Amino acid sequence: MASRAPLFLLVICFCCCSGHAKSFVEVVCDKTITGRVAHQSMLTCKVETTQEIPDLTITVVVWKKQGDDDPFLSALDRRPGKKNKFPPGYKVTLNDRTVSLVITDPKVKDEGVYSCLVMTDSGNAETTTHFKVTAKYEAPSVYSIDEQVVPNAHKSLICKATGGYPEGKLRWFDENKTEWTKSAEPPIVNQTEDGLFEISSKLPLMKLSTSDEYTCVVYNASDGKEGSATIRTDDPDPDASTQNSSKTSLSAIIAPVLVVGSLIVGLLLALLICRRRSQRTHNMVPNTDEVIDPPPPYCEEFKDNMA
Ligand SMILES: *[C@@H]1O[C@H](CO)[C@@H](O)[C@H](O)[C@H]1NC(C)=O
Ligand SMILES: *[C@@H]1O[C@H](CO)[C@@H](O)[C@H](O)[C@H]1NC(C)=O
Repeated sequence: MASRAPLFLLVICFCCCSGHAKSFVEVVCDKTITGRVAHQSMLTCKVETTQEIPDLTITVVVWKKQGDDDPFLSALDRRPGKKNKFPPGYKVTLNDRTVSLVITDPKVKDEGVYSCLVMTDSGNAETTTHFKVTAKYEAPSVYSIDEQVVPNAHKSLICKATGGYPEGKLRWFDENKTEWTKSAEPPIVNQTEDGLFEISSKLPLMKLSTSDEYTCVVYNASDGKEGSATIRTDDPDPDASTQNSSKTSLSAIIAPVLVVGSLIVGLLLALLICRRRSQRTHNMVPNTDEVIDPPPPYCEEFKDNMA
């Protein structure tokens, strides 16, 4: 029994010295951290010790992104004589026992699993955290087109939402809040270069569809409503309405001209007819029309007035 004691001690010593200092120091992070695209984010973890170490000195903090083609690495090295340079847009900070990676302008490509390695004078530790980003969709745009492909449809409504992340949904409602999404074609989903989504949906309108108004609503990945747009189906197309307005302004000028003009022409005609008729009646020219239809009394008045 006594001969085994040194070996036992050696095993214990090995465990302590070969750095399973993990037993003293650990890094604790949230499992996932969510940031917003274009809003500064901070991945923050805490260095904890399994036993009281009042004067723990953290010497190095290394943040690394896993499984990247272009490995991302940002380190803070506080050992004497070391200079720190961070890749643009990223910064490692250390505040007491809190270590952070600051991402000033998060993009979709920043999503992923980050590992945080901390070296201290009482041992090293490493852990990972999952960084996710979201981006809010812009208000959708909706417009109508003449439908030539879908049978029995005369028009289709198109709704487009862009700039969101992760993939969201578009839904259609009429003015009575009845949902029409099932009547829409499967959405077309694109991802732009920056990883943000563009979603477009087409709702064919059948000839007998009765609603005057349809609303397209964009929902984010967790079914939160982010924006909507409404279109009236009886809207004249915008070109027609501008034409109408120019017609109105033109007719505003033409109408009085026409009225005044026709009044003048009318007066002249009336004067002419009265003259002729009175001449004819004086000359007693036989004319059936004139006999049946003698000059009306107002002609005399008219002539008096003119005189
Ligand atoms: C998706 O991409 C295709 C081809 O590049 C394009 O025609 C279409 O308009 C895009 N869809 C959206 C919603 O932007
Ligand atoms: C979705 O929108 C809701 C409500 O605006 C918001 O609380 C939630 O964080 C959003 N989720 C995502 C994944 O953007």
